[in-house]
Amino acid sequence: MKFEFVAPARILFGSGQFERLGELSKTLGKRALIVFNGSEALANTAKDQTAAAGLTANLFRQRGEPTVGDVDSATELARKEQVDLIVGLGGGSAIDAAKAVAALLGNGGSALDYMEVVGRGQKLTRPSITWIAIPTTFGTGAEATKNAVIGAPDRGFKASIRGEQMLAKIVLVDPILGHGVPSKVIAQSGMDALCQLIESYTSNGAGPMTDGLAMTGLKRAPSALKRAYRDRQDADALSDMALSAMLSGMTLANAGLGAVHGFAAPLGANFPVPHGAVCAALLPHVVRANVAALRASSKDHPTLARYAEIGRMARIAPAASDADAIDFLIQFLFELSRDLYIQPLSAFGVEDKDVDRIVALARKASSMRFNPIVLDDAVLASVLRAAIAGA
Ligand SMILES: [Fe+2]
Repeated sequence: MKFEFVAPARILFGSGQFERLGELSKTLGKRALIVFNGSEALANTAKDQTAAAGLTANLFRQRGEPTVGDVDSATELARKEQVDLIVGLGGGSAIDAAKAVAALLGNGGSALDYMEVVGRGQKLTRPSITWIAIPTTFGTGAEATKNAVIGAPDRGFKASIRGEQMLAKIVLVDPILGHGVPSKVIAQSGMDALCQLIESYTSNGAGPMTDGLAMTGLKRAPSALKRAYRDRQDADALSDMALSAMLSGMTLANAGLGAVHGFAAPLGANFPVPHGAVCAALLPHVVRANVAALRASSKDHPTLARYAEIGRMARIAPAASDADAIDFLIQFLFELSRDLYIQPLSAFGVEDKDVDRIVALARKASSMRFNPIVLDDAVLASVLRAAIAGA
């Protein structure tokens, strides 16, 4: 057995933890930049807390998913203000932007210097400046990952800045922060978290550490997601989703993902579709295609047993045969998509004529190589067509 595992140094989880931001900030810096999205009132509360602790604090609103321009602008503001502490507050977009800014402040330069695929791909050689992650949408797990996904709209691609140095110093997860998040965001983000748990548990990069964490999340997420969507005041459901999402970040950072996230990079860069919506629309179709390809390669492929375990957890029927549990899982994912009103990709302007181009771009995405089996172009194309149509 051989593996490497990285995770944030300190995690504070539970109701009321957000109130500790001031006390924690005081020990970490003097001048803070809070990169946020979503609620302005919440960002102002964070600003007041850091100010009450004696720090100077500025706000930067991240609009949409971060682009090279956003990250460079926020970094410029932080340099001008001589910031020594970054707080990322909100959904994955704000947290990834904060993570990238902290890395650029520690390493110098601009986003494209370090971006994979579309940028110069330089390695980060120095630590990020200290940053705190505070998620509110409980989906992307960005608070626990070592990469920031950044869009380069002029190149039609999203790519990462990546490195262990990018892990947050403190992750502060307070389920109460999910109360104000729109149900559509809970649905899309939650499907992203569930997808990340499934993809990292069935990834060919999975290992014993990530397996344990993924199982802990997979026991909770299928039921918690439905409950949190129905009632955002359901404290247990939000707590389970907050935990599942954070765990999905830890597993994806160490085990990799799969074909859903392989598609997510070019789709997110070429169409105005949120990351969670892409993952939600694709997940059932990719699982069905992976299972078919695995079954065709070998009836006893070890990843089939993994899909079966996930199916048993979603169904809570431990006695089911592997084949039944897998079939149940596929059906469960399609039903979950319907229950959460997940839109097909056509709702975001993706059309059949885009399929070949997106398939070619998805091949280059880093997540694709962790898919448990190589799906050929014809299969990827049919998966994408099905996700476009929502069939
Ligand atoms: Fe994701």
